[in-house]
Amino acid sequence: MSIHTLPTEVISQIAAGEVIERPVYAVKELIENAIDAKADTITIVLEESGLKRITVIDNGEGMTPADLQVCFMPHTTSKIHSIENLHQINTLGFRGEALASIAAISNMTIKSRTHKGGDGVIIEIKSGEIHKKAPTGIPPGTQITVNNLFYTTPARKKFLKSARTEFRHCIELLTKYALAYPSIRFSLTHNGKQTMDLPQTTDQTERLRALLNPNLYEALLPFNLQNEYFSLNGFITKPQTATYSQKQYLFVNNRAVSDKQISQAIKDAYGTLLDPLAHPSFVLFLTLQPDFIDINIHPRKEEIRFINSRIVYESIYNAVTQALEENNLVFHTKDFNQQLTQSPRFGHTDSFAAQVLKENSLPWQSRNITTILPSSDLQQIHNLYLITQTKYGMLLIDQHAAHERILYEELFQEFKKQKRQPSYQLPQSLIFELSLSEGELLQENTQIFQQLGFEIEYFKDNTFLLTAIPVLFKDRNNIAIIMEILQDVSQDKQPKEIDKTSRKMIAYLACRSAIKAGEKLSKKQARELLKKLEQTPNNTTCPHARPTKIEIELPKLNRLFRR
Ligand SMILES: Nc1ncnc2c1ncn2[C@@H]1O[C@H](COP(=O)(O)OP(=O)(O)OP(=O)(O)O)[C@@H](O)[C@H]1O
Ligand SMILES: [Mg+2]
Repeated sequence: MSIHTLPTEVISQIAAGEVIERPVYAVKELIENAIDAKADTITIVLEESGLKRITVIDNGEGMTPADLQVCFMPHTTSKIHSIENLHQINTLGFRGEALASIAAISNMTIKSRTHKGGDGVIIEIKSGEIHKKAPTGIPPGTQITVNNLFYTTPARKKFLKSARTEFRHCIELLTKYALAYPSIRFSLTHNGKQTMDLPQTTDQTERLRALLNPNLYEALLPFNLQNEYFSLNGFITKPQTATYSQKQYLFVNNRAVSDKQISQAIKDAYGTLLDPLAHPSFVLFLTLQPDFIDINIHPRKEEIRFINSRIVYESIYNAVTQALEENNLVFHTKDFNQQLTQSPRFGHTDSFAAQVLKENSLPWQSRNITTILPSSDLQQIHNLYLITQTKYGMLLIDQHAAHERILYEELFQEFKKQKRQPSYQLPQSLIFELSLSEGELLQENTQIFQQLGFEIEYFKDNTFLLTAIPVLFKDRNNIAIIMEILQDVSQDKQPKEIDKTSRKMIAYLACRSAIKAGEKLSKKQARELLKKLEQTPNNTTCPHARPTKIEIELPKLNRLFRR
């Protein structure tokens, strides 16, 4: 199909205005064009994280000389014609904008040749205009080179993070496409070094193995669902791989997007299996008729709107719940689980108790100083909570959250005493493996790790050597702590503060060392815990901001019993 300029009424309907703010966005557009051209081999070559040069070579359909002449102009596309087509999008691109917006801020060279014979042609574009056009000998397909991105907009270049960070974004982008298109061979070379080379495969799990962190890969649980609206397949993961950042890969009609509602449906299905602040990891492919979604809502097409979002939420919630059940991972009965996850606010029932609770948005206010009566009994219930009498009513304590706070404050005091943490040399170095993007992230942040007392060396491929750890962390699972810190730094938009990172690290350590929910405590242990909690600062919440204790005052109890 040949390239044409879109009619004005279509242009006005497109959620356009894409600004190429960083090299990865240009790489994304070029890869999407290659995929739309049905290439089965895509080669990406970057120099200086794409800032100096981006080359994308594909063996797709190619362009005729006439198409080449117009492809980089605004609003020119071969992918849609009319407003109706906007509701039936089957390609990754459709706005006819990408090449034009890249051409405006770089010097671009495009070589292309179709499979139908004829010569290849090369054009050079400067400031949006053709400077040179000539025949060239190339195999069928398209090769686009973007030189000196941002040379016309130096201010934009200034706002970029380090070259390493920009390169990591490119790896993360490629990871997504490589997961979604296993039948395409992808290779990536950066500054002359090949970083990724993924052969074509029909086996999706091969790609998952190559691209995900090995621990995440081991924890994958397959699930699928077909109904009249869509088909869903993919992988959820065992709860222990949940993270405080989001390791979630969602593809809708093979387009990488993020969708808060789908993330929430999956999280809700895990219910109490997860810490409320953690996010389950998943890889999920949702396929549905193109007119069930609207892609035309985000300038970079990273979000979509579902025509019936309730069905999507419910279907995914049910499919994930079932997958968790099949893997024996639901520890409450279904009903109880649903009550917990679906009615977190008490507004759904009309019982008298609910009415009372509804009146007050924070019915159980926890005081900083709880006046526990020394003589009162302390009881453990369900190996989860402690319960005792106070001057004003009764007190419930979450044993895990309480212990977490106590340990956190103790560890933090110790940690604060020294600026650079003393290291403990491990008798034997530990080798650990990361995914490609995690490896980049680690190297981007070596300084933080050093300040915290870790000594880490690059080993080979995606593996690293841990040679020393902070003294405080002897006998701990340090690899898990390193992963936690990596997740933390990857999330952060601001330059990383060492203090904030160490706080997180200590919170992690406190959490892993604390008494677990489900552990039986002796009377003596329970008393000791309560006593320590009362002496600990900030004792109303755990380091992750969940309450440690809840006091229910007598008047509230009286009202519940209609006294
Ligand atoms: N690698 C390629 N192989 C073949 N044709 C291409 C290639 N890249 C671009 N084209 C052609 O150039 C046109 C313009 O590309 P451009 O990326 O600017 O717009 P688009 O892909 O149609 O829409 P969008 O702006 O949403 O990406 C495409 O519609 C396509 O016909
Ligand atoms: Mg495009």
